[in-house]
Amino acid sequence: MNGGADVSVERVCRTFAMPGGVPVTVLRDLSLQVAAGETLAVTGPSGSGKTTLLQVIGALDRPDSGEVRVNGRELGALDDRGRAAFRNREVGFVFQAHHLLPQLTAFENVLVPAWAGRVTPELEVRARELLGRVGLSDRLGHFPGQLSGGERQRVALARALLLSPGLLLADEPTGALDHANARALVELLLELNRESGTTLIVVTHAEACAARMARRVALADGRVE
Ligand SMILES: Nc1ncnc2c1ncn2[C@@H]1O[C@H](COP(=O)(O)OP(=O)(O)OP(=O)(O)O)[C@@H](O)[C@H]1O
Ligand SMILES: [Mg+2]
Repeated sequence: MNGGADVSVERVCRTFAMPGGVPVTVLRDLSLQVAAGETLAVTGPSGSGKTTLLQVIGALDRPDSGEVRVNGRELGALDDRGRAAFRNREVGFVFQAHHLLPQLTAFENVLVPAWAGRVTPELEVRARELLGRVGLSDRLGHFPGQLSGGERQRVALARALLLSPGLLLADEPTGALDHANARALVELLLELNRESGTTLIVVTHAEACAARMARRVALADGRVE
């Protein structure tokens, strides 16, 4: 049991300035609390700010105002190095676009988070095991270009889980999957949550996925409804 991270988002605002255009306010005084070990589905229409919210929670983006705390630590107070270490060790991301490195095999892609430290034999065993759990044992040597969209998404999940993060941020993780694989992936997420207490925040349009999370929130007008 690694234990999950708790997340506190307090009155976060995020506006994107558009050169020569009207600025777009995406998050407007948004507050959200997620307890350690909780599973949360985030829904809302396209453009409502779901990805922006995940990026702010995962220290990929900085809010214009407001605070984000993960395990009590304010992300705004971290310098670039601290933010990079936080992203590498404490958060697993499954992006809407998978962001696999095209020149690396599935197995090598899963090991990328280990590069910040050392690729140990234990981590190689874990990478193999994770690829097995997402049903890709027979695809270890495939390059992303040789994988289907759903297979790439599953590699991305295995990569996100390599270092057993306390917080998993998943952006439409079942978007490219058929029914059976989507269900298997959601069950795997929940299994990890039960085994390790990993806090799960999952953006999804899929009702079947949202319904499996303990709680759900919808974004509208830059806030949690
Ligand atoms: N870097 C940026 N610069 C300008 N506008 C941006 C930027 N990033 C996001 N936006 C705008 O912010 C809004 C919210 O984007 P976001 O990606 O968070 O939406 P979303 O809820 O994830 O949508 P989807 O369901 O389509 O993925 C969109 O209207 C988008 O155009
Ligand atoms: Mg999005």
